Amino acid sequence: MGRLLGALLAAWLMVTPAAAAGWALALHGGAGTLERGGYAPGEEAAIREALADALEKGRAILASGGTAVDAVEAVVVALEASPHFNAGVGAALTSAGTAELDAAIMDGATRRAAAVTGVMTTESPIRLARRLMETGPHVFLAGPAADGFARAHGLAQVPNSHFITPARRRMLEELQKGGAAAFDIRLRFGTVGAVARDRAGNLAAATSTGGLTGKAPGRIGDTPVIGAGTVAENGACAVSATGSGEIFIRARAAGQICDRIRFGGQTAQAAADAVIADIGALGGDGGVIVVDALGQVSFALNAPGMYRAAVTEGTAPVVKIFADE
Ligand code: GLY
Repeated sequence: MGRLLGALLAAWLMVTPAAAAGWALALHGGAGTLERGGYAPGEEAAIREALADALEKGRAILASGGTAVDAVEAVVVALEASPHFNAGVGAALTSAGTAELDAAIMDGATRRAAAVTGVMTTESPIRLARRLMETGPHVFLAGPAADGFARAHGLAQVPNSHFITPARRRMLEELQKGGAAAFDIRLRFGTVGAVARDRAGNLAAATSTGGLTGKAPGRIGDTPVIGAGTVAENGACAVSATGSGEIFIRARAAGQICDRIRFGGQTAQAAADAVIADIGALGGDGGVIVVDALGQVSFALNAPGMYRAAVTEGTAPVVKIFADE
């Protein structure tokens, strides 16, 4: 009976994208071993402020009637520009000491999507993904072809060193000094992302990352794989993931959450919790942010912390870091 009701609810959600709910927005700035007391003086406050500032960019768009796609892009552009997060400036470095950036965006209303991987000179990988989604015809571009597409479309170009911060260099050096013993996947991931529902009931998701510290040049994580690290489908949900990308790909994490809602009749929170349990069972760590068709925001994580924030129509913004907040 519960299943039948769930299926009926899922069917209802599919045919009523413009439900009575208002707009909603959530973001993440990566998950991992984020523990109280593990920050330099002022660092935790600066990170919370950067999360709040990025959230405000998207909130302003949604509150003035803008689209979910515009909101998630604006949030991720802001997070890419902040050195606190593993995307854009401050990206994790490859074993060759370079920044190779991945990003994806999806519009739940049309299920148009685009992804880029191995970006090295385009200032904002998420802007590049958005432009590719608008322009087509391709959905996925890699490496020099992705940067070339950005150049041809007038998107700002920077030297690869623009993305490289002293903290990320140190992290790579420490990893390389420690050899295989230091190859602890839990210490090395991070990603930024946003999900939104706009007043028209449309959903969108965007995710951007430098990937894993010490990754092999050419390695691709879950972020730009539609249905793994990023997905948006009106009537189901929008998801952005952060964590051990190889495992999120194998679990089809973002798509599995939407499928559990659409076909299994689960709530977004139950679906997110189940998928994070699946990730854990496969040996992975990380978290997801989810917004459902009615604008309900859910978070799930199996790491000690995840930089995250949310705001919905009529509620105050919240910013959180630790799992028990
Ligand atoms: N989750 C980001 C990555 O694995 O690249």
